[in-house]
Amino acid sequence: MGNTRHLLNLALIGFMGAGKTSVGRLVADQLHFDYLDTDEMIQSRTARTIADIFKKDGEPAFRKLEQQLVSELAARKRTVIATGGGLPTDPVNLASLKTHALIVCLWASPEKIWERVRNQTHRPLLCDPNPKLKIRELLAAREPFYRQADVLINTDLRSAREAAQQVVHQFKFAQSGRQ
Ligand code: S3P
Repeated sequence: MGNTRHLLNLALIGFMGAGKTSVGRLVADQLHFDYLDTDEMIQSRTARTIADIFKKDGEPAFRKLEQQLVSELAARKRTVIATGGGLPTDPVNLASLKTHALIVCLWASPEKIWERVRNQTHRPLLCDPNPKLKIRELLAAREPFYRQADVLINTDLRSAREAAQQVVHQFKFAQSGRQ
């Protein structure tokens, strides 16, 4: 890690259904940090759903909103930031998060992701005639970005509680190494 990093926050990245929201809330509780979800922030700021933004304005407009939000997050302290699944595919976003947060990627296999998201309907990118294939393709395309995290935690065989414990452990370890 470079010298300019300050691990004031913890950012969770990873594919849809990897567990960022449930794990993130548990981690925030355990660390006594605030919890912030980039999708929720965008929805409350625009007073629109993500699905509506995708449908009426298109994905690039949504990505701009994400980038704007990420640039503001550098001012946060003691915050667990759960990010939308596509947010770290913009290198500007990843670089910005890295200046103030430890980046933890929650990883899950395409099979596990499908199992977790199959009954949910709010994600526009998965409203596809072949969502299983879409998951495989998107995950393969995004893997190089997710791998740029400081820590990778496989959630396939871990409960949210177990994954949260790992995240907290890694965060404390990373912080202690920088004192
Ligand atoms: C997206 C993931 C979603 C949301 C949007 C796009 C993606 O967030 O940001 O639907 O590109 O993977 P979650 O990962 O929280 O589902």
